[in-house]
Amino acid sequence: MSSDPAFRAPIGVHDVLPPESGRWADVVTRFARRAGIFGFGLIQTPLFEHIEVFRRVGEHTDVVSKEMYEFRDKGDRHLALRPEGTASVVRAYVQHRPLPPWKVWYFAPNFRYERPQKGRYRQHWQLGVEVLGLDDPAIDIEVIALASGFYRDLGLRDLRLIINSMGDAKGRGAYVEALRSHLLNSSDALGPEFVERVEANPLRVLDSRNPEWQSVIETAPLISDHLSPDASAHFEAVKAGLNALGIEFEVDGRLVRGFDYYTRTTFEFQSTALDAAQNAVGGGGRYDGLAEAMGGPPTPGIGFGIGVERLLLALDAEDVVSNAENNSQSVFVIDGLSGADELLLLTITSSLREAGISTERAYGGRSLKAQWKAADRCGARYGVMIGKAELERESVAVKDLETGEQIEVRRDQLVSWLQESFEENYE
Ligand code: HAM
Repeated sequence: MSSDPAFRAPIGVHDVLPPESGRWADVVTRFARRAGIFGFGLIQTPLFEHIEVFRRVGEHTDVVSKEMYEFRDKGDRHLALRPEGTASVVRAYVQHRPLPPWKVWYFAPNFRYERPQKGRYRQHWQLGVEVLGLDDPAIDIEVIALASGFYRDLGLRDLRLIINSMGDAKGRGAYVEALRSHLLNSSDALGPEFVERVEANPLRVLDSRNPEWQSVIETAPLISDHLSPDASAHFEAVKAGLNALGIEFEVDGRLVRGFDYYTRTTFEFQSTALDAAQNAVGGGGRYDGLAEAMGGPPTPGIGFGIGVERLLLALDAEDVVSNAENNSQSVFVIDGLSGADELLLLTITSSLREAGISTERAYGGRSLKAQWKAADRCGARYGVMIGKAELERESVAVKDLETGEQIEVRRDQLVSWLQESFEENYE
């Protein structure tokens, strides 16, 4: 380890190395497949944008007002690293005007200057989707079902889905005023920061974790009691759809989420296996006014983001082993000829890999003992060895590294022998 702090990753950010990165690849691949099945295409947006793009996310949110990595470039442009994915996707929608409905998914890093702790980092990665141009509650249900099925496929069980409706922008004014006067009436002892927040946007008080504010928050009026008939019918349709798909949920009238853009359906997936402060493994909702706020045509939108680091922590907390941690379908090629026929090793290794079999090998004429040890260490299922006798008989020795059993297989039958054996083991 380097002792010079300049050559260590900055606080709050992390390298992801093998074998841990194998779990990342597995999670991303599964998400990509699932998003494709649901009709989403991949989107990639820049890591940084003009600062105005993120200001639209909510000037009074912590993420924008306190945690943004902002800077001026050499051309004196005021830019910021992306703190979340939705704003950039909506900016891209407004800029390119694709035909709605537009359904995109992403796997992207986000940057927030937070106080680092387990499950809370200054760079975190999200897997997410966004849909622009659909107002129908059917898409709210599909988007929630996409996330819910993804968690279930990965093997997460201790998961809670919380949903709420934030109402529509039109109906929300009266509620926000009722909330503001409730909070200000009870604000005497709560200090200037509280009053400031209430005055800027009282909704932002509801998602505060400040323990001194909790009693006032608990008695605050609920947005779900102030929905317009339209917003209420939309919310009822979403709940009915989730019920029809057998997706369990709880309604929490206090779920407001951390951005100003949310309207109507909002939701959060929480892992009950994680500490409460960092238990959100994903969340999202509608943002029906955001495209317009960025100068685009009025376009409803909905999406979610899943925090990959949190997701992996939740899988660990539940002791779920992913496919990526399981090397039971791999092979290690061992040189029993002390480097005398490198081209044979090269072609055997290559033929296995080209047949889709995960294959490692030893390099540089190491002792047989060291090679078998390396085979064990990498968790391969079979060691495939070519010694002098095998070379003469055009065969290989295949050792099952789990049972220690060894058999001889003709070289031209090795691929099919391994494929059959993996298939049997798989069943
Ligand atoms: P968010 O709730 O801020 O929403 O973040 C989504 C997820 O990212 C969280 O549930 C959590 O798993 C993870 N996350 C957030 N901050 C951190 C952090 N500092 N360290 C580790 N993980 C973190 C959004 O970002 C919205 N853009 C989601 C959305 C998409 N809404 C509509 N569409």
